[in-house]
Amino acid sequence: MKYLFRILRYDPLKDEHPFFQDFFYETDEKKSVIEALMDIRNEQDCTLAFRYSCREAICGSCAMVINGKYDLACRTMLNSLMSSLIVIEPLPNMEIQKDLVVNMDPFFEALNKIEPYIESEADFSEGGYRIEEKEMDKILQYVNCILCGSCYSACPVASRDENYLGPAALAKLYRFVKDPRDKRPFSIWSKVNTEGGVWGCDTVFKCNEVCPKSVRPADGIEALRRKLIVEKIKRIFKFKR
Ligand code: SF4
Ligand code: FES
Repeated sequence: MKYLFRILRYDPLKDEHPFFQDFFYETDEKKSVIEALMDIRNEQDCTLAFRYSCREAICGSCAMVINGKYDLACRTMLNSLMSSLIVIEPLPNMEIQKDLVVNMDPFFEALNKIEPYIESEADFSEGGYRIEEKEMDKILQYVNCILCGSCYSACPVASRDENYLGPAALAKLYRFVKDPRDKRPFSIWSKVNTEGGVWGCDTVFKCNEVCPKSVRPADGIEALRRKLIVEKIKRIFKFKR
């Protein structure tokens, strides 16, 4: 099968603007987009830059836009694209460091702000701390997030407001707030009760639409909003009594 790869190239050290470059690619084997990019890099242009690691849709590093759709290049098979023209672009709304490699710092800085780990005084060292399956079911989709950054890149609010934490970080916070093992106090997690937090979301659901792991970050943001309101009401009534 013959393909024409049209890949967005940009080296900020020498290019004035990003531009598309065409590569002809032929293979008789069933290959993924990442394998084709590796072949192109190895055989045609060793300066082509892109990220990957696990090649099993687990590490989240190969997210890009393939024929207009956000996806993981390692799990996207060429024959599934039903086209001999394959247009590859980096995640939008993020600074291009080189070709398909974007600066993920704002995404991970937002994630770190919500403290993405279980906070508890309990000692889990012996035998761990298992939770009920029904409790796990409530947070499983958020646990499945592989931090690929697609939702952050597609989010119109994150693209215009650098203070907005973004869908992945907020959904991840909901995952910990709902986890019965996590004992972070309300005073800590309620810091997202702001425009840069849950109230910044425009609820356009782009994040739900683009997630390659079927996480629905906007649902997590909505759930956090509801939880904040309920906690606030509880506190008002407690104060009045
Ligand atoms: S929620 Fe989905 S799109 Fe967003 S970072 Fe996680 S896996 Fe990627
Ligand atoms: S290389 Fe890890 S998700 Fe694609």
